[in-house]
Amino acid sequence: MTLKLNNGIEIPQIGTGTWTLKENIATDNVCMALKAGFRHIDTAQMYENESEVGQGIINSGVAREEIFLTTKIAPPTIRKGEDAVKESIDESLKKLKTPYIDLMLIHWPVKDCVRFTWKIMESYVKAGKIRSIGVSNFNPHHLEELLSYAEIRPVINQIEVHPYMSQVENIEFNHNLGIQVEAWGPFGQGDIDIVGNPTLQSLAKKYQKTISQIVLRWIVQRGLITIPRCKPNHFTENLEVMQFSLTDDDMQLINGMNQNHRSNPRNNPENFPY
Ligand SMILES: NC(=O)c1ccc[n+]([C@@H]2O[C@H](COP(=O)([O-])OP(=O)(O)OC[C@H]3O[C@@H](n4cnc5c(N)ncnc54)[C@H](OP(=O)(O)O)[C@@H]3O)[C@@H](O)[C@H]2O)c1
Repeated sequence: MTLKLNNGIEIPQIGTGTWTLKENIATDNVCMALKAGFRHIDTAQMYENESEVGQGIINSGVAREEIFLTTKIAPPTIRKGEDAVKESIDESLKKLKTPYIDLMLIHWPVKDCVRFTWKIMESYVKAGKIRSIGVSNFNPHHLEELLSYAEIRPVINQIEVHPYMSQVENIEFNHNLGIQVEAWGPFGQGDIDIVGNPTLQSLAKKYQKTISQIVLRWIVQRGLITIPRCKPNHFTENLEVMQFSLTDDDMQLINGMNQNHRSNPRNNPENFPY
């Protein structure tokens, strides 16, 4: 199942994340995820695993054009200026061992640096080295500023979404602008006690699914893209959420769990100095 981006490109609604995966664990995880049926991989310069992710893609034997590959430009690099941003994109292409990146995101809004970074990203789209560009952890005011000068509209805003952080208004704001929302940390990065929640427990029993599947289904049924990180024993379970649906009432039950609770308070874009 894919969703269409505002530039006409299709993205698989469920992908797999690679944060914290290092060295051969990252290579093997990506390789096995592709063999299990995933066609969407999420990495970032900051994860320090782009080389391993690229190797995992090669090892899988899956054709590059079948895979949707995302990476993100690191804020510390952005702060160093234009040359550093260009060098980092060239380095991402090299490490990922690919002639093009499907989606490049600005990982976090960086004061006074988004405009030149976006212009550079646009130049890489025009050169055919990046197919789509977007942002991550942007609040509405960050997006409004970007849209005032963007020649190419962002296709995606990747933000934290899970049952305790439902992001209703933020998602609506993005969707009204034709920007798809991608949910990172769908399980609260593994740190929030989603498994112990009685509402989710009863829904899991009702649908004969795991709690993780109920959570992922709630996310994709909201029209969001998501990229859970998981070990190979959870690949099939996570992919299978495209094969059932929750009733509207049960969707509302999970919506009601929101606490505006971030898995880590430092992830709050409200804390950014602009
Ligand atoms: N843009 C950003 O700023 C940003 C920030 C954070 C993350 N991300 C991206 O989003 C991805 C996902 O977020 P995340 O890695 O932070 O956390 P997450 O996906 O919310 O949680 C990962 C945890 O969920 C567990 N899990 C996954 N599937 C499961 C299942 N079916 N049953 C039980 N447990 C399951 C994993 O355990 P096992 O390992 O045992 O399977 C792991 O401990 C990242 O990997 C990264 O690519 C982006």
